[in-house]
Amino acid sequence: MRMWWFITTLAISAFICNSPVYAYDNNPLQDICVAVNDSQASVFVNGKICKDPKLATANDFYFSGLNVSGNEVPGLGFALKTVDVNNMPGLNTLGITLVRADLEPQHIGPFHMHPRATEMITILEGTAYAGFLVPDPANFFKSRLFSKILNPGDVFVFPQGLIHFLYNMGYKKATFLFYFNSQNPGFVSIPYSIFASNPPISDDILAKGFQLNKTEIAELRKKAHSGWRSQQSFLHTQGSNPRPLVKGEAPTSAPQLMLDICIAVNDSHASVFVNGKICKDPKFATADDFFFSGLNVSGNPATLFGFAATRVDVTTMPGLNTLGISIVRADLESQGLVPFHTHLLATALITVLEGTVYAGFLVPDPENFFKSRLFSKILNHGDVFLIPQGLIRFVYNVEHKKATFLASFNSQNPEAIMIPSSIFATEPPIMDDILAKGFQLNKSEIAELRKKFS
Ligand SMILES: *[C@@H]1O[C@H](CO)[C@@H](O)[C@H](O)[C@H]1NC(C)=O
Ligand SMILES: *[C@@H]1O[C@H](CO)[C@@H](O)[C@H](O)[C@H]1NC(C)=O
Ligand SMILES: *[C@@H]1O[C@H](CO)[C@@H](O)[C@H](O)[C@H]1NC(C)=O
Ligand SMILES: *[C@@H]1O[C@H](CO)[C@@H](O)[C@H](O)[C@H]1NC(C)=O
Ligand SMILES: *[C@@H]1O[C@H](CO)[C@@H](O)[C@H](O)[C@H]1NC(C)=O
Ligand SMILES: *[C@@H]1O[C@H](CO)[C@@H](O)[C@H](O)[C@H]1NC(C)=O
Repeated sequence: MRMWWFITTLAISAFICNSPVYAYDNNPLQDICVAVNDSQASVFVNGKICKDPKLATANDFYFSGLNVSGNEVPGLGFALKTVDVNNMPGLNTLGITLVRADLEPQHIGPFHMHPRATEMITILEGTAYAGFLVPDPANFFKSRLFSKILNPGDVFVFPQGLIHFLYNMGYKKATFLFYFNSQNPGFVSIPYSIFASNPPISDDILAKGFQLNKTEIAELRKKAHSGWRSQQSFLHTQGSNPRPLVKGEAPTSAPQLMLDICIAVNDSHASVFVNGKICKDPKFATADDFFFSGLNVSGNPATLFGFAATRVDVTTMPGLNTLGISIVRADLESQGLVPFHTHLLATALITVLEGTVYAGFLVPDPENFFKSRLFSKILNHGDVFLIPQGLIRFVYNVEHKKATFLASFNSQNPEAIMIPSSIFATEPPIMDDILAKGFQLNKSEIAELRKKFS
């Protein structure tokens, strides 16, 4: 069924815009797959081996310490703190990673790219200049620079595999969060990964490739071998290729792009649906298609639950089309609740920026489908909690002041399914008898709920 849908979609989109595109989300094969710390394992799988789900705990989905910066890379003026499968084993197979970065004034996060992930960045403090390069299909030696000045609340996206950089143009430290839609995005620094290869590439080739003379090449080699080596701990590769298949393997998938960029056309008049949106001609793309401003302020709170959400997804940032990632800012009033809901096709990583919240999700009990286990945590500033794809979750503000958190999803459009409101507010309505039975309530209670949710 799924395959058939996929092929149809591909055929339709190929027919429509002659450059097929589709949004691709991860496809875990189980509810949860907490990574075993398998230093003794002699096999490599695409991802890590899973722990027995019975032994999983809320701590497998929890990380604390994003409220403070990582250790500065000596001499380079930047510090990174990574939340990935190595320190949050519950991330295994879920296709998402979070990094806090701190960049000193007038310092640059060097040119690099992530072979396996699109990266969304948001800036919490400071001012930065960010850019990425889109190859020119008419001349591979050229590219277009898409760049923006970023202030707190701004969001920018670096599409998968494209070279990018970040420069702190201000006079104070800049702090960022980076979200990657892979559990292992990879990191290729440019040109340093080329100058510091093992075995080394010959000077002749480097001189030709970079159009420099040998003295200059020697100079670059020396630089590449000193400072930049220390960044190897960042986004380290885990269990690389090749791999024998093992029983119960859970592949980690990442989006497969067919174009460098595919900006969504605002196709309210289009009469066809594709899996994702139709692409704009890349010639007409601009940096604004990859930019969003306004994550520094709260949205309007929904009265019933006391929470507000601001979405940075393909509907507000068209450049996200086909890239499989998005961010939401949520603000909770005192005692406010992000009510029970699920996101069909997206795993979420939530990070608290302000206040204290209580977050939980439910893992179905495979032995009794009417039961589930609650995995929950109290989260303070700097804490990170992971909520696997498709599971029911909630976030509650336990304090008497506002709370703010960011949630990132590995989908360009993680439509929420609110529970039970989506059931009580259907069009046409579900019969009272069925609701009464389904929720084990009587009809006056059902009528009461209908009124609240409509
Ligand atoms: C995994 O095992 C290695 C080696 O035994 C150890 O150094 C590391 O701290 C462990 N990591 C976790 C997250 O337990
Ligand atoms: C960061 O969070 C941890 C855990 O909640 C807390 O112990 C620590 O004091 C916080 N540090 C700062 C600088 O706020
Ligand atoms: C290499 O190029 C630099 C900069 O153009 C120049 O100063 C230097 O003299 C050149 N060295 C050699 C050996 O050609
Ligand atoms: C898309 O088009 C609709 C209807 O024309 C409009 O209301 C909406 O603001 C547009 N969205 C963007 C992001 O341009
Ligand atoms: C939020 O950011 C926008 C754009 O940078 C700026 O105009 C606005 O003043 C900021 N608002 C707050 C409350 O900081
Ligand atoms: C429905 O249930 C509520 C709570 O148990 C009860 O107060 C009410 O009388 C019941 N109404 C009917 C019509 O049975």
